[in-house]
Amino acid sequence: MKISGVIKRVNTLSHYDVIIIGAGASGLMCAATAAKQGKRVLVLEKANKVGKKILMSGGGKCNFTNYEVSASNYICTNPHFCKSALKQYSQWDFFALVNEYGIEWEERKHGQLFCLHSAKDILHMLLAECEKAEAVVDIQTKVDIQSIQEKDHVFTVNTSQQAFTGQHLVIASGALSIPSLGGSGFGYKLAQQFNIPVLPRQAGLVPYTITDQLKPVCERLSGLAIEVEVSLGETSFTENMLFTHRGFSGPVMLQISNYWQRGDTIRINLLPHINLLEKLLQTKKHKPKILLRSFFQGLLTKNLVLELQQLFWVEHANTPLAEIPDKLLESVSHHLQAWQIKPADTEGYRTAEVTLGGVDTDYISSKTFEVKHQKGLYFIGEVLDVSGQLGGFNFQWAWSSGFACATHIAAR
Ligand code: FDA
Repeated sequence: MKISGVIKRVNTLSHYDVIIIGAGASGLMCAATAAKQGKRVLVLEKANKVGKKILMSGGGKCNFTNYEVSASNYICTNPHFCKSALKQYSQWDFFALVNEYGIEWEERKHGQLFCLHSAKDILHMLLAECEKAEAVVDIQTKVDIQSIQEKDHVFTVNTSQQAFTGQHLVIASGALSIPSLGGSGFGYKLAQQFNIPVLPRQAGLVPYTITDQLKPVCERLSGLAIEVEVSLGETSFTENMLFTHRGFSGPVMLQISNYWQRGDTIRINLLPHINLLEKLLQTKKHKPKILLRSFFQGLLTKNLVLELQQLFWVEHANTPLAEIPDKLLESVSHHLQAWQIKPADTEGYRTAEVTLGGVDTDYISSKTFEVKHQKGLYFIGEVLDVSGQLGGFNFQWAWSSGFACATHIAAR
């Protein structure tokens, strides 16, 4: 395998079996798999380094897959689209590869698997897989692709330095999230060039911004994390929520953002494990002199309770529980267990972990990832209208789609 920077002279092959655009998670998996099965592969990457998102993922520890993966962990206009690839290359296949390389890992909440030491272990493993493959894998970084043409089932990729030809062209250029880590709209433009529709896109797995009267509350509570249940329609998640200077973040908010449209109201249950009204009414009987804010001692942090008091029972701040009407206790319980929040927006692609929407999967074979009306052209990974929940599902999609595509190419 050869990894090189800007091509200064013609020192590589110019014809390959497979040209892959993008040396990220799905592109590298596809390259290694195709080359192991004898295909000569060229990977063209615009950044100065390969696998930037892998290195930054999971706080540097890469949440590389999950113990429990199924199509229900993905958002796609066609809910069946993911099934075939996830079956062809499952979380257990990737897990076996990680173990084969002796990479130490740990299981965290909800079956999430992370590297114990560094995300570099995953990137090095993928590069080692390319290295040991039977056929050549050339990786060119800092490549500026200027145009792509297809004629008689051969693709020509013109870069600012050199032209390459290939029988198979795989678009693994990812999506719009985090431009500094390679986020790009390249794949969508190429899809349009080949008459493949691109569905509307928006930032996913992303924090919320708040601009209404709650903004100062978020500012004052910034840094506080608590476990809550957040719901939007029928979808709900129970996980940590983080107050930030600009609004709400934390895993639970990232999860629900995948299902959110601008204007939607989300519901937060601040005490997801208790029946608050029942507990309040019992306490009213047994400890009639207690204040409402003292009731919450041990259930919620003091600074949060003081903010909630200001919002929901300021007029009864110093009233003993016995003198607070049941109706008001009902209202307080309702506010705390179904707190209605209307985010102004999300933080957008600058911080989003994924992009929702993308290349329309109706035009792509779910088995091979080939474009149905364009032989030899493939789209894999996040550029497609497939987005996973938080928890290692997005990398699993990259591994599964990259593997399925390469296996199909190798069989031809
Ligand atoms: P990916 O983005 O990995 O690769 C695309 C490549 O194409 C990039 O290298 C890019 O530079 C290149 N490219 C783009 N345009 C090009 C052009 N014109 N020419 C040549 N090359 C071009 N998921 C998960 O499961 N567990 C986790 O822990 C995390 N953590 C995480 C943290 C952060 C900060 C982010 C932003 C994202 C995550 N994710 C994640 C999501 C995960 O990183 C993402 O879903 C996959 O990397 C997608 O893999 P792809 O191969 O599709 O794109």
